[in-house]
Amino acid sequence: MDASNEYDLVIRGGTLVTAGDGFAADLAVRDGRIAAIGEALPAGREEIDAAGLLVLPGGVDAHCHIDEPPYGGAYLADDFRSASRSAACGGTTTIVPFANQLPGRPLRAAVEDYHRRAEGNALIDYAFHLIVSDPTTSLLGQELPALIEEGYTSFKVFMTYAGYQLEDPAILDLLALTRREGALLMVHAENGHCVHWQSQRLAAAGDTGLAAHGRAAPPLVEREATHRAIALAELAGARVLLVHVSSAEALEQIRWGQDRGLPVLAETCPQYLLSGQDDLEKPGWEAAKFLCSPPPRGADDAEALWRGLAQGAFQLASSDHCPYRLEGPEGKRSQGEELHFQKVPPGVPGLETRLPLLFHEGVQRGRLSLQQFVALTATNPARIYGLYPRKGGLAVGGDADIALWDPARRVTIRHADLHDACDYTPYEGREVEGWPVLTLSRGERVWERGEGERGRVSEAYGRGRFLARTRERAATAP
Ligand code: URP
Ligand code: ZN
Ligand code: ZN
Repeated sequence: MDASNEYDLVIRGGTLVTAGDGFAADLAVRDGRIAAIGEALPAGREEIDAAGLLVLPGGVDAHCHIDEPPYGGAYLADDFRSASRSAACGGTTTIVPFANQLPGRPLRAAVEDYHRRAEGNALIDYAFHLIVSDPTTSLLGQELPALIEEGYTSFKVFMTYAGYQLEDPAILDLLALTRREGALLMVHAENGHCVHWQSQRLAAAGDTGLAAHGRAAPPLVEREATHRAIALAELAGARVLLVHVSSAEALEQIRWGQDRGLPVLAETCPQYLLSGQDDLEKPGWEAAKFLCSPPPRGADDAEALWRGLAQGAFQLASSDHCPYRLEGPEGKRSQGEELHFQKVPPGVPGLETRLPLLFHEGVQRGRLSLQQFVALTATNPARIYGLYPRKGGLAVGGDADIALWDPARRVTIRHADLHDACDYTPYEGREVEGWPVLTLSRGERVWERGEGERGRVSEAYGRGRFLARTRERAATAP
């Protein structure tokens, strides 16, 4: 082989795992792409001995909140630097955060602003979903179709949250548009009217502590909205994706739709698998570490969600990383020191811990196969959101985005060892077995575990590239 054909890197002797397979092989990288997979590949300029390690596609985290405009005065702690760094340190190589339309402002302005925030800062590759809060006639007629054409092929709407809540006719318009344009609507399914009504009642009765968050938005408000979102999608003849599903009741509706043959996709997140209402009952500000929307539920719900992951009702396991700091005036305390369920912004961090938690609790505990783990965390999000086969797999010709995993590495999660800009993790002190030892993005080392728990992170901020997505691919479900 002449020098120009030489591989840049060969990962030798590991076990490659994809969404469908697991086999011993070497993997060679050239020019940032996977160039060959096979036995006894020729030497590369660089070699990695992966004996005893798993060679996995880098994770695709398709639900995370990074550097969005403030929500009710609360600022997200992570910008693209700290979020992409944190993702890479947990084995994730692609992130898809949200360009968030401020009510009354053009969506295009949100997209342009978001590009300015990402450019020059991201350590790994990224795409954008959109958040549509104000579906005007011009947004539906011109702005959104043009943005879909440019590669922003998925967008989220809310059935709750003052300022963002859309009513059924607007959701129907957007669903019809996704059908026409080959895009995908992501729905935050909680009935905001019910949450508001119930919140007023709780507040009037003086039940205002953080545990009331769970009572203000019980499973039935998620169940009703989930059913309605599915029915609206059926009426519009469109696919729909239910995000951050928290309860067994909502999952029942999803299965109901899927059993009818409707194209219903669904996502859940570690906080709903590992936290619960009892965490919201913790004393003082400790409870705020678990406060997210929908609220975490009970142990039976969590077990139902695990079954939903294993049985294929869920296609996606994302972080919904939403890093409001606990300390200081900008995050969870942005409306003051009062522990009032309506004053603490919802959201928990989780970009870096998503894969290790799901690996430990899912694969190591026998709830998920390795292939399911890869499918839920990398391949399916890449497929659903139009990034596959470039991302999310180990395909020759695809980007060499790889997480080299040590399945036996024991780690006690400590926020001090994580790399985000938040100031806590809901999983402090939790022990996991299995963590990446090296993350490659297009063949480049963006993180490796050196000495010490925090490892060595690349300083090449800005190397991460924007990924425009194709509608044809977005229209292909797994
Ligand atoms: O509590 C949550 N999930 N905060 C993030 C915003 C959202 O609804 O995804
Ligand atoms: Zn949401
Ligand atoms: Zn979210």
